[in-house]
Amino acid sequence: MFITFEGVEGCGKTTQARLLAARLEERGSRTLVTREPGGAAISEQIRVILLDNKNDDMDAMAEALLYVASRAQFVAEIVRPALAAETVVICDRYADSTLAYQGYGRGLAIGTLRTLNRIATGGLVPDRTFLLDLPVDEGLARKRRGGDLNRLDNAGYAFHERVRNGYHALAEADPARWRVIDAGAAPSVVAEAIWAALSPFVGCSVLTMTYD
Ligand code: TYD
Repeated sequence: MFITFEGVEGCGKTTQARLLAARLEERGSRTLVTREPGGAAISEQIRVILLDNKNDDMDAMAEALLYVASRAQFVAEIVRPALAAETVVICDRYADSTLAYQGYGRGLAIGTLRTLNRIATGGLVPDRTFLLDLPVDEGLARKRRGGDLNRLDNAGYAFHERVRNGYHALAEADPARWRVIDAGAAPSVVAEAIWAALSPFVGCSVLTMTYD
């Protein structure tokens, strides 16, 4: 099973990915928590270029291609082998981030980005995607309290507002895969909402995998 977390900056994806993995491990599933951009050594090197505040003149298409290149390596080296080994892969951001940030945020054509994602991933789509929804100003404030802001964090309020609206459009277009969770509550409350949304699915998927 392949589960992804998406959302604007500071929405708590990393915390929730870890909490979910712990819960699945308790139930006897093997899990891998990973992230994008990054997750594999080459992809982590691309991440450094992408998030470096010095690269503030990066062309939008160059940016998209770097995210997608990072993803191609990550899927081939990390995600596909883990899924083949019946590990539940929980990823902090994935292909939908490219649609939200480079598509809705930067204004690149969504159709082109979908094609690039398909080429990079060989068509690997998550089984479940959680949108941790939070107002942009709250998320950016959380991130500011947490430390340094990277190149994307510094892209401006209007950009992040387009990203948030883009996520809502993606979730509405594919309700079978997406679950929208209010990320404004305490982490334990958010974790419960995620578990409640996942458990029917876990019941018929992960447990079967464990028996196999
Ligand atoms: P990170 O510090 O990991 O942010 P967060 O904790 O919010 O996930 O930085 C990753 C940044 O890269 C984040 O601003 C979102 C952005 N991003 C894209 O613009 N496109 C993508 O395809 C991906 C995966 C991430």
